[in-house]
Amino acid sequence: MWKRLLLVSAVSAAMSSAVMAAPLVVGFSQVGSESGWRAAETNVAKTEAKERGITLKIADAQQKQENQIKAVRSFIAQGVDAIFIAPVVATGWEPVLEEAKDAKIPVFLLDRSIDVKDKSLYMTTVTANNVLEGQLIGDWLVKTVAGKPCNVVELQGTVGASVAIDRKKGFAEAIAKAPNIKIIRSQSGDFTRSKGKEVMESFIKAENNGKNICMVYSHNDDMVIGAIQAIKEAGLKPGKDILTGSIDGVPDIYKAMMAGDANASVELTPDMAGPAFDALEKYKKDGTIPPKTIITKSTLYLPDTAKQQYERKLHMGY
Ligand code: AHR
Repeated sequence: MWKRLLLVSAVSAAMSSAVMAAPLVVGFSQVGSESGWRAAETNVAKTEAKERGITLKIADAQQKQENQIKAVRSFIAQGVDAIFIAPVVATGWEPVLEEAKDAKIPVFLLDRSIDVKDKSLYMTTVTANNVLEGQLIGDWLVKTVAGKPCNVVELQGTVGASVAIDRKKGFAEAIAKAPNIKIIRSQSGDFTRSKGKEVMESFIKAENNGKNICMVYSHNDDMVIGAIQAIKEAGLKPGKDILTGSIDGVPDIYKAMMAGDANASVELTPDMAGPAFDALEKYKKDGTIPPKTIITKSTLYLPDTAKQQYERKLHMGY
């Protein structure tokens, strides 16, 4: 009898340790593949998951919130352990996040924030200080033009995305102290190279074949790389006739700096998933609730270190 009891308890101990060791399954609703930075973020998330033995299911939303909502519902139906969302836009999340909450599935936000009253609908947001990113470019411009008149055209990110709102705000705040600097045109290029080029072409046409433009401020590097092409096609020299300032720090922006075509970029780390996995693992282990926001570093890089940055970047998931 006691032998049977021993056997039963050994089997149940083995079963419970198997249950404990079951790998976490995370559903990740990714924005899309609109930029080089986004592709790197996806790659880093895959690598981080693999190293931790986490099963990561990625759904590409193709820049549409409706696709993200469908993906989140599907992750809930599959009973994943956690849901990561890089939210395309900031508003409209309450209903689906309430469904996740009812299903007791924690939600982690990556790189963009959301606008909800009830903060218990998500665990944490891993993001940069995007207002600061805009400020860093604005401060650099104020210093660079040193009181000379400067007309700026702005390439905004996706309309309604928290990062576009914050980067616009930060830049505007920084140049507010310099009456010589004015934003003369501002339009969305949806964070893509092709739209960045298209919008820049229209700015150039409208502004005396680009001669009225002193600087292009772009909410990401990909749009400015498209804009650089448009500037060249208009017979102007990017980086000189029209200065550039942007955000992300993708390898191509450092290449452009090395060629003298770009002037400044603020690095946004593509490693948003790493801190989110750390927070998730701690939470699953002992119930630790992470801070509501986990802020990543923002650093301004200029052409003087472009070569080193380019080489460093090649090992970062790009
Ligand atoms: O949310 C982060 C932004 O989204 C990146 O700066 C941009 O490249 C991407 O599309």
